[in-house]
Amino acid sequence: MKSLQLNVFPCVPPQVDLLTGRFDAENLQYKSTCIRDLVGIFRDESARQLLPDSLEVYRVEILVSPQQEGELLAGTTHLMPGKVGDEFFMTRGHFHQRREQAEFYFGLRGCGILLLQPEAAPAYSELVFAGSVHHIPSFTAHRLVNTGNDILSALAVWPAMAGHDYQALQPEGFSLRVYDREDGVFLEAANV
Ligand code: F6R
Ligand code: MN
Repeated sequence: MKSLQLNVFPCVPPQVDLLTGRFDAENLQYKSTCIRDLVGIFRDESARQLLPDSLEVYRVEILVSPQQEGELLAGTTHLMPGKVGDEFFMTRGHFHQRREQAEFYFGLRGCGILLLQPEAAPAYSELVFAGSVHHIPSFTAHRLVNTGNDILSALAVWPAMAGHDYQALQPEGFSLRVYDREDGVFLEAANV
């Protein structure tokens, strides 16, 4: 391969490790979500209370871009393996405040399930694994569930002005839940 002979040097862009989703960049924001932050999210609230408050369930690292119309954000969610009772660790889940704004997720590490809950149609789900690509349509709430033993990492790209609406899903939450049962991973209607 020829070596680069340039009079004008290109900038070195931020980098992402595609095996883990970890960014190497100057402008990163981090958000950590622990067991104490997830009151009312899992079916078995008393099982949640038995876990240490400060146990980290997931961490998001976001490549900062300007918060303005037309801009995009990129961020990786690292969701730990674990369970609350027999329910797998999962993200809080949200609609976008701007409901019409869609998103892409890319599975990078580990395995799990993406729950998708449209406003006006039944919930559905997709398997997440290294290399999986997920289009999250407009008007659709979304949540990651880690069903494996490794960290589940997924890279996301979404409109900078989309916002997050966590309230609209309460108190019922998603209509599907994911459990670890003796004979495997079970995806069940939430009200059974
Ligand atoms: C951005 C997005 C992800 C989630 C992240 C944490 O729109 O969908 O970056 O924000 O997976 O999940 P929540 O926000 O539901 O706690
Ligand atoms: Mn989102």
